[in-house]
Amino acid sequence: MANALKIGVAGLGTVGASLVRILQTRANALAVACGRPIAVTAVSARDASKDRGILMDGIAWYADPVEMAKDADIDVFVELVGGAEGAAEQSVRAALVRGLHVVTANKALLSRHGVELAKLAEEKGRLLNYEAAVAGGIPVIKTLRESLTGNNFSRIYGIMNGTCNYILTRMEREGLSFADCLKEAQRLGYAEADPSFDIEGNDTAHKLSILTTLAFGCEISADQIYLEGITNISIEDIHAAADLGYRIKLLGVAQKTESGIEQRVHPTMVPLDSVIAQVDGVTNAVALESDILGELLMVGPGAGGNATASAVLGDITDIAKSRPGAQEVPVLGRPAHLLEPYRQAEMQSHEGGYFIRLTVQDRTGVFASIATKMAENAISLESIVQHSKQPAAPDRPQTIILVTHATMESAVRKAVGAIKGEGYLIGEPQVIRIERPKG
Ligand SMILES: NC(=O)c1ccc[n+]([C@@H]2O[C@H](COP(=O)([O-])OP(=O)(O)OC[C@H]3O[C@@H](n4cnc5c(N)ncnc54)[C@H](OP(=O)(O)O)[C@@H]3O)[C@@H](O)[C@H]2O)c1
Repeated sequence: MANALKIGVAGLGTVGASLVRILQTRANALAVACGRPIAVTAVSARDASKDRGILMDGIAWYADPVEMAKDADIDVFVELVGGAEGAAEQSVRAALVRGLHVVTANKALLSRHGVELAKLAEEKGRLLNYEAAVAGGIPVIKTLRESLTGNNFSRIYGIMNGTCNYILTRMEREGLSFADCLKEAQRLGYAEADPSFDIEGNDTAHKLSILTTLAFGCEISADQIYLEGITNISIEDIHAAADLGYRIKLLGVAQKTESGIEQRVHPTMVPLDSVIAQVDGVTNAVALESDILGELLMVGPGAGGNATASAVLGDITDIAKSRPGAQEVPVLGRPAHLLEPYRQAEMQSHEGGYFIRLTVQDRTGVFASIATKMAENAISLESIVQHSKQPAAPDRPQTIILVTHATMESAVRKAVGAIKGEGYLIGEPQVIRIERPKG
């Protein structure tokens, strides 16, 4: 059998420890599948005294991942530390400079430094694999990068944050508030102690930026993504959505338009009978729409030690099976120097349906005034209903819900601004975009 592929794993937390356990317990089967053994020869973490359920015989320990990248006797550097900068970034760079292959699960790192790192890997003729960085165990990177080469993509979208999907699912199923569901998600370990990165949409944005590059051949531009999290979604929105035949999901969407590429992360109403509406709890889903294939929807575990380690393992076995001198798949789908500059489509020119929920004082003429402001901005309404469960009374606020046909974001913003100026609104209006699957 050929020489062993020697692996160094930096980071032995949820993903890293799972990965090493799998590599150790399935060593024989992996050697058969890859035609050569895969041996973990070095690891790095902060705390050397922690029991991680892995066998340390014959494995060199490094307190510093950068040292491991520079010195260890390894062929592949696996980065499972996390973070866009610091030890993760420095160690990956050092490994590539040294001419090692790199595998990482780090979306934050790739969304910030992905293009530079891809250039470095390509200059060195080495692989930089990152299947686990987007949607955990779902093999979406390989699908975009390899299986669907030649397709022109029109839209990609998905549920890429399990914490948000878990919260929205429980709000709907149990009628609980956002705050209560968040506490429950934290108790069960689905949400971090500081959950802002997930619930404000940043985590989804990082993943979306990587998919956008793979689908549309442009440079990564995570900082030009329109971002709205789920913190303002109330149980009233969820009930109103259900009454209208929709479910609310936090989607990341990238779409080709005449003026450029739209990248947006926001709470979205999807039709109740669509497949993506059925994706519940911590599960992830990614939909790809292209001209040759049509629509592909992939659903599966988006996080967790084993599911994520499965994707990392696939990246490592690809390296084990690769033949020296063979043409490698470009890191970002096309050679990094051929990526086009990202041409951002302005959010104002987004076109789609909108759900608008207004709480108003119960005054004569309010309903007519709202309809007029919509008409003045050329917004065509699918429905406008008074949604309150209780009978109208002079001192009782009323809820009015509008659903628009496809219209421009700029028109909706103008109409809502004009309504705000009329003085009968109570609180802030709620505006949620509607997304329809192609099929
Ligand atoms: N968890 C998931 O479900 C999941 C899913 C998809 C992608 N990912 C990505 O996978 C990566 C790892 O995530 P994780 O959940 O496994 O993280 P984690 O449980 O927090 O583990 C991080 C590991 O890195 C080590 N570490 C941190 N800073 C270090 C430093 N300066 N020097 C040496 N070691 C250091 C820690 O050491 P100690 O153990 O000694 O503290 C720990 O072993 C991240 O990029 C994450 O975004 C995770």
